[in-house]
Amino acid sequence: MNIFGQLLSINFKPHLDLIAKLEKTVNVKSTAHFLIKKEERDCRAVELIESLGLHVHHSELFYTPAFSTRNIHVDGDVGDPPYASIFKINWIVGGTGSQMIWYETIDGYSPEKRKTVAGTYACIFDPKKCREIFNLQIENCALVQAGIPHTVVNQEEPRWAVSYVVSLSAGPGPLQSPSVSDIEQKFKNFLI
Ligand SMILES: [Fe+2]
Repeated sequence: MNIFGQLLSINFKPHLDLIAKLEKTVNVKSTAHFLIKKEERDCRAVELIESLGLHVHHSELFYTPAFSTRNIHVDGDVGDPPYASIFKINWIVGGTGSQMIWYETIDGYSPEKRKTVAGTYACIFDPKKCREIFNLQIENCALVQAGIPHTVVNQEEPRWAVSYVVSLSAGPGPLQSPSVSDIEQKFKNFLI
């Protein structure tokens, strides 16, 4: 398994109703980021994650416009170094032909941390100090590593991403990300 992104065979898509509702409210030309509250989480997604011995640390929804390229960033908790491992299940709605691209930084470069509207942290990277290392088109669902610098490049369709961040520990507190071998073992029946 590569450590960046892996397509998953999961036969449902959560929060289609929420997306339909929010679709009417977003500025179609601007990126938007929403937190999905614990009590609003999709039972199927929570049950699936818990059946693997994992917990949902937080759940989010991202909107990116057609023909847009997001800045290169990492998502997640406060980490030291400023970005840390964060695995999430992403369900994609729309965004046909969109691509997620991962990068490595050049010459030990690392950017500043910023707080997001959802109360999580993100880092924005200077593209001139990054080199592409992997890319993936996600039609349906994927396990992605959002603690490695990445971006999303959209084609003619706007893209919604429902994102459930997984942790080894339940409840509030810092994210405890599973190791790559751990996550590979837990998701082995879903990897495509
Ligand atoms: Fe991200």
